[in-house]
Amino acid sequence: MTIPARAAITAVHGYVPPDLLTNAELAQMVDTSDTWITERTGIKERHILKGKGLGTSHMAAEAVRGLLQKTGTKPQEVDLLICATTTPDMQFPSTANLICDMVGVRNIGSFDVQAACSGFLYSLCIASQFIASGTARKVVVVGADKMSSIIDYTDRATCVLFGDGAGAVLLEPNNQGYGIMDSLIRSDGSGMIHLHQKAGGSRMPPTTETITSRLHYVHQEGAAVYKFAIAKMAEVAGEIMSRNNLRGDMIDWLVPHQANKRIIESTAERMGLAMEKVMVTIHKYGNTTNATIPLCLHDYEPQLKRGDRLLMAAFGGGFTWSGVYVQWAYDGATAPGLNDMSTNGKGG
Ligand code: ACO
Repeated sequence: MTIPARAAITAVHGYVPPDLLTNAELAQMVDTSDTWITERTGIKERHILKGKGLGTSHMAAEAVRGLLQKTGTKPQEVDLLICATTTPDMQFPSTANLICDMVGVRNIGSFDVQAACSGFLYSLCIASQFIASGTARKVVVVGADKMSSIIDYTDRATCVLFGDGAGAVLLEPNNQGYGIMDSLIRSDGSGMIHLHQKAGGSRMPPTTETITSRLHYVHQEGAAVYKFAIAKMAEVAGEIMSRNNLRGDMIDWLVPHQANKRIIESTAERMGLAMEKVMVTIHKYGNTTNATIPLCLHDYEPQLKRGDRLLMAAFGGGFTWSGVYVQWAYDGATAPGLNDMSTNGKGG
């Protein structure tokens, strides 16, 4: 019997910019402390993209370049590029278009996906459909965000949470039963009031007044988002597990969106998973929005083995939420270019 082709992740790569913003530095900018940030969020430091004219595409292109290089993939072999981002370089053209140009990929389909922090998983779901239908054979999905461009560094409730970064994966067909086994995407637009950016879009175009009122920054009601996140991360993980007959002891890795260490711990506990099976990078990157999950995969790649069962779960503004169940397709310990964060960046 022929096993239908599934979309398998065959390589990952990450990029974080070299400049660090530590808790100690934030404590000099707003009324906060290293103790508060560490205890309430788990974050110790985050990377910030500095440099005039550098946007999300800069970090995404670094991640994609590294991905193509380590896999020996020529730009002309890529069939589709999807960029998940909440901080596009411009309203248009799409950041995916810009990335393609920067890495030398031409004449292919490319587009952005906007689903806040769930965008990377939304994009994996979309990419897997292209591969399963036979429409594409090599798809690049990159999650990237320059959150520092929309954060109010006078608002202690949000500025401690976010960082900048990018992570990319290559998806290819697999006939051996590995790859994306199941996925789900969900949304509830009534959650908008709790997490959004008020000005800068067509509803409230930028004016001097919107800028002086600081309406171009992330508006977040932390407690409401926290409550939603705790409920939806567990719900999405539970739904994927139940429809695939998975018990907690059958999951090798939980790959959760990194928004708050307490949300991650609560999700693991509700799934019956020990923290040793949970990918955690929040202490060094903070919440990089669409980059959190691919950066986790990048950092944990050496520990991943073929056949490992990964459950990825994310939630974000909108509200949106998503879950993806993957059977990992390769041994990370022997992957080419292991742990090689792009040379211009730092981390790992
Ligand atoms: N330093 C010190 N005190 C602070 C800080 C800070 N950086 N931030 C808030 N506080 C204060 C508040 O002002 C409040 O003080 P008050 O009681 O005098 O009013 C107190 O701490 C407690 O505030 P809470 O909101 O109850 O704090 P909580 O423990 O819930 O932590 C946090 C706040 C970290 C924001 C938490 O609510 C959270 O993580 N929420 C979810 C955020 C999230 O997941 N965002 C994802 C976004 S996804 C996307 O799509 C972008």
